[in-house]
Amino acid sequence: MPDLYDQLKKLDRHTRYPYHMPGHKRNPQAGPMADVMAIDITEIDGFDDLHDASGILLEAEKKAAKIYGAEETHFLVNGSTAGVLAAVSTACAAGRETAGAAQYPLLLAGRNSHLSFLHAAYLMQADVQWMIEEELTDGDARIPGTVYPAEVMEALSKASAAGRLPAAVFVTSPTYYGVIGDIPSIVEIAHSYGVPVIVDEAHGAHFGLIQGLPDSAVHAGADLVVDSLHKTLPSLTQTALIHVQGALIDRTKLRRFLRIYQTSSPSYVLMASIDSCMTMIRERPELFGGVLLYKQIILEQGRAWKHLRFLSGQLVQDPCKIVVTTASCRMTGRELYDILLENYHIEPEMAYGDEVVLILTGMDTEDGIEALLWALTEVDNFLEREGANAASSPKPSLPEMCPPEAACGIADAWDAPAEEILLKDAAGRVSAELIAPYPPGTPLLCPGERIGEDAAARIRALASAGVRVRGIGDRDGELTVRAVKQDR
Ligand SMILES: Cc1ncc(COP(=O)(O)O)c(C=O)c1O
Repeated sequence: MPDLYDQLKKLDRHTRYPYHMPGHKRNPQAGPMADVMAIDITEIDGFDDLHDASGILLEAEKKAAKIYGAEETHFLVNGSTAGVLAAVSTACAAGRETAGAAQYPLLLAGRNSHLSFLHAAYLMQADVQWMIEEELTDGDARIPGTVYPAEVMEALSKASAAGRLPAAVFVTSPTYYGVIGDIPSIVEIAHSYGVPVIVDEAHGAHFGLIQGLPDSAVHAGADLVVDSLHKTLPSLTQTALIHVQGALIDRTKLRRFLRIYQTSSPSYVLMASIDSCMTMIRERPELFGGVLLYKQIILEQGRAWKHLRFLSGQLVQDPCKIVVTTASCRMTGRELYDILLENYHIEPEMAYGDEVVLILTGMDTEDGIEALLWALTEVDNFLEREGANAASSPKPSLPEMCPPEAACGIADAWDAPAEEILLKDAAGRVSAELIAPYPPGTPLLCPGERIGEDAAARIRALASAGVRVRGIGDRDGELTVRAVKQDR
């Protein structure tokens, strides 16, 4: 079977003149992006329908499933976001089928779940029971951890005793910081209760592809696994996959939700990119192994620094992530990020607190790696010359957060009459918004949760450190939040 891209390249306006959408008509005069438009179609004759695949797309999806070792794989053109929405909705709909339509589904999830999980819970009117991940430390540095099997075990045994099992366990692995969860054990525990496991593997599309890379959640037996190809593999932005296996997931429902959440005009440019990426993995797997060597070289070189430090590979197990910490020097992560960007033209993925996250892939080049190491070494030398260290100049750290206190359900709060109030007056009120620093896009406060002094302090600290926080506002220079109206 030829690649989708080969099929698209054969399109010729002279033999097949388009009296159909898209409006650019594959006309070479259609503007500066006409080259891309030449292969930009949706479901025309001879091609296939993503929402009812039976021809070349079905074949391409089967090819992807084989590469990942999944029973069934679907292409996603709306990113992992669509995959998470569809996975959670499928599990919730099945939960309602068994528990009765009147009962809200329950989800058991790691608190560091991506916004798309929250959005799905809202759409399905689900209650969420959170498992709060422990912070992991490496010297002075702190990063969010992942969910441990023991927490899943405890939560499920309590849920079972209370007669309300969750519709699914939702776990993120690897995390934004490259921490990997014990998915095989979590799957074993959840399955012993008959509960499916959804793994948000958006950052781990490379897992399991070649020897030496961490194993994938598909191999660990997770029921639904979502992979963002565009994050760590050579594939266009928005491209992702969802894999399904086992008998706990209703595949008809999954297809229904994929139709609901994905565009009805899927782009063949994106789908061809997925297919080409699969061909590369199959035919040139060595390209993806480069990352292992790069990471080793990078960590090795960092050992000579006196102020900056890479977090250890034991914590950041994902070979595609490197985390630099400024915890023991006067600089903040954001300052390091800005220096790398402005002075060295290196753009990291994220800065949060004292940590800067960088994504490494098999498509990096030796020049790129050298430039990064040179830049970081220069910054470290600069810090040494300045004689700046933590002891002489303390810097503000992010205030600790207490466990969230839910006053009402997510959907109840998000749909309730709300008002914008000043953050300084918000203590004790119920949040009517999802408040999340982005990236990483994990909740600081969910709709329905009480706004404590701890959350207000953290929001203030993040905003003043230059972190983008979604869900807050600004009134004449004062931070605002949306709270559920009190007199309802
Ligand atoms: C953990 C996690 N899951 C899901 C997503 C959504 O992925 P996408 O951008 O492919 O829609 C993200 C985005 O960054 C993420 O970090």
